Amino acid sequence: MSTEQTFRPGLEGVIASETGISYLDVESEQIVIRGYDLIELSKKVTYLDLVFLLMNDQLPTKEERDRLDQELKNEYQVPDELLSILKMLPKQTDSMDALRTGISILAGFENELDDLSLEANRRKTIRLLAKVPSIVANSYHAKLNTPIIAPRSDLSYSANFLYMITGHVPSLLEMKAFDQTLMVYSEHEMPNSTFAARVIASTTSDIYGALTGSVASLKGKLHGGANEAVMEMLLEARTLEGMEMLINQKLKNKERIMGFGHRVYMKKMDPRAALMKEALLELTKEKGNKELYDMCVIGEEVMKREKGLYPNLDYYAAPVYYLLGIPISVYTPIFLAARTIGVCAHVIEQHANNRLFRPRVNYTGPRNLHP
Ligand code: ACO
Repeated sequence: MSTEQTFRPGLEGVIASETGISYLDVESEQIVIRGYDLIELSKKVTYLDLVFLLMNDQLPTKEERDRLDQELKNEYQVPDELLSILKMLPKQTDSMDALRTGISILAGFENELDDLSLEANRRKTIRLLAKVPSIVANSYHAKLNTPIIAPRSDLSYSANFLYMITGHVPSLLEMKAFDQTLMVYSEHEMPNSTFAARVIASTTSDIYGALTGSVASLKGKLHGGANEAVMEMLLEARTLEGMEMLINQKLKNKERIMGFGHRVYMKKMDPRAALMKEALLELTKEKGNKELYDMCVIGEEVMKREKGLYPNLDYYAAPVYYLLGIPISVYTPIFLAARTIGVCAHVIEQHANNRLFRPRVNYTGPRNLHP
């Protein structure tokens, strides 16, 4: 078979890997995570349970969850040198670039960097999960010249993460909503960022480098960067009428509407978006701002009518973050922090059963030229 015959632009529909981690079953509208349905998990367990499941292939007992919680807390502190470097970054540095830099610096403090064994990779995953939230939150504070916020071990993992961003201890409802966003962002089969990490890991490069590659991938607006763009659109629209007008105007200008469409779900609603829609409605009951929810619904209706497209996760996660008081520039970094466990699980799986990724091309350039 010639390479021309097998070329699929964007690798659409191409099977890139075997995995026991997750699978998008579009037919049954299930996101399968190690045998469980992600949406059911997101309603019944916590982000830490999901972390344990992704790392160990089974849900934890209470003792196992408590141990994981303690292991993470033992690793919360990030090196002072790293925080100093974050403060020295140019103030215009994009928050995803700061995060990418922070994770790279962290690699320099890792004593097991080149040990790709299962055990060492798991220990490194714990360290990354413990420290990435602090880098996310404090690169924002460093940029604004506001004080660095130290992690608090008396709070749950998710409550501490949100606290480090906003400076306020969240209410129970806020903590639960935030925890649920971390769950729905945690793992999603083979998106561009996970593929990037697996490609990097397949050279036997380390988990920090693979995660750094993921950050660069996730930054793009066609991927994780969409959640920030969604919120900017909602703020620009301001009202129900404004939302309808803005989307129609953008469509007329042949612009893509952020937060809609998905390579795998295509013309179906992303199950994670449906869950976030419910979470948004719940939050508006405590915090008011029902108009924000109604604007999202109007946008959803316009897109269904005009383009036959449905919301993806980013569309409804963005207003949830807004109501949680999270600055917009931190939305995509939070996505990466939540996805760290998914990416690390894939890197661990890649290292455990590795074959170098090295595809071929369909050459379209000239030949037989001479200098
Ligand atoms: N707004 C308007 N039109 C769209 C959108 C959109 N959001 N998404 C797809 N389309 C249109 C395209 O213009 C194209 O139309 P055409 O055939 O007339 O040219 C058609 O639908 C197919 O689009 P593709 O780009 O080929 O579809 P693909 O599967 O490559 O794209 C993607 C998926 C990138 C997510 C796309 O839907 C998009 O750009 N969405 C907006 C960005 C976004 O929300 N990203 C978040 C992804 S989910 C996540 O990361 C959690």
